[in-house]
Amino acid sequence: MAHRIITLSGDGIGPEIMAPTLELLRGIGEFEFEEHSFGGAAIDAYGTALTDETLAACREADAVLLAAVGGPRWDTTDPNAPRPEQGLLGLRKGLELYANLRPVRPLPALYEASPLRRERIEGTDLLVVRELTGGIYFGEKIRTETMASDVCAYTVTEIERIARTAFKAARSKVTSVDKANVLETSRLWRQVVMEVHGREFPNIELEHLLVDNAAMQLVSAPRHFDTILTENMFGDILSDEAAMITGSIGMLPSASLGDGSVPGLFEPVHGSAPDIAGQGLANPLAMFLSAALMLRHGLDLADEASAVESAVESALAGGLRTPDLGGKAGTAEATQAVLEHL
Ligand code: NAD
Ligand code: IPM
Ligand code: MN
Repeated sequence: MAHRIITLSGDGIGPEIMAPTLELLRGIGEFEFEEHSFGGAAIDAYGTALTDETLAACREADAVLLAAVGGPRWDTTDPNAPRPEQGLLGLRKGLELYANLRPVRPLPALYEASPLRRERIEGTDLLVVRELTGGIYFGEKIRTETMASDVCAYTVTEIERIARTAFKAARSKVTSVDKANVLETSRLWRQVVMEVHGREFPNIELEHLLVDNAAMQLVSAPRHFDTILTENMFGDILSDEAAMITGSIGMLPSASLGDGSVPGLFEPVHGSAPDIAGQGLANPLAMFLSAALMLRHGLDLADEASAVESAVESALAGGLRTPDLGGKAGTAEATQAVLEHL
């Protein structure tokens, strides 16, 4: 039976990287794709970034593949206006996709494309495990004429389940990143992570790093890390930073998973790149690699996932470089190069 996939192309470069991804997937298996309007596009069409119908369709699918949302057209400081990003947050929360996995593995072909020196980054193979449905993103928001506030809250249950995800994913070490010297949520985070570790994963090494220090060590000694476990906003910021170890934000894929009863959501870490949208210049590789994560983690198609990853690697080894990696290849040329190696 064909795998049923909801595709959410979204805004900006979203449609430009989704189309070649579907072409790639059609080349390796039987899939039924159903596109839904999402993000800014859905605000224009329906007045909301995520319709009930789209959320229901996602819940029934085998997997959800998303490109990117947002753009200057919908940027506003008005608290009452709809925003494209609300669609993404609503989808993550609606499916309770609490575990966001962002693997950072620089490919040898791209060692010279990173702004970091080769000897610093080579051999880096780390995983950011970002909590995705709690923290300051989802706490109460207040806005008056003279003040504004965003509440950051975590429950023990929320911390326990994401900690388990990280300990299970780790090869030998988990680095839990927090701001326990200042934040109460971080002190609870640290305590619960230690409890889960002692109780369930005593054979995995556990260390704690304050987030400012972690940001520094990510670029000074990225090989130090195996699995980084952190809360929602720290994970957002640290993963964009970590992307540069791979050469570009256009290389980093992600998987968002729930408790197993819901389909996973697969999307690149980057956004809708409005500055290059409509020019055919977007790097589609993070999107291709997100499709590979969908094949592996969402559809149990490990061989097909490896085939996509190998094709990306071979194309880069063969010299493929989009502008974000210092080259001249456009999205179409990059797609062709990967298809040739598939
Ligand atoms: P961005 O990731 O869209 O772009 C940052 C920089 O990286 C830009 O210079 C852009 O051109 C470049 N870039 C990003 N992806 C690229 C690719 N595939 N190929 C080549 N270059 C690429 O971040 P931003 O500019 O801060 O945000 C733009 C919009 O995207 C905002 O509305 C933001 O909310 C949204 N956003 C959405 C998602 C998502 O849908 N998952 C993620 C991040 C940001
Ligand atoms: C990401 C994005 C989103 C986030 C935005 C668009 C809401 O930056 O997926 O990293 O902050 O989680
Ligand atoms: Mn982000």
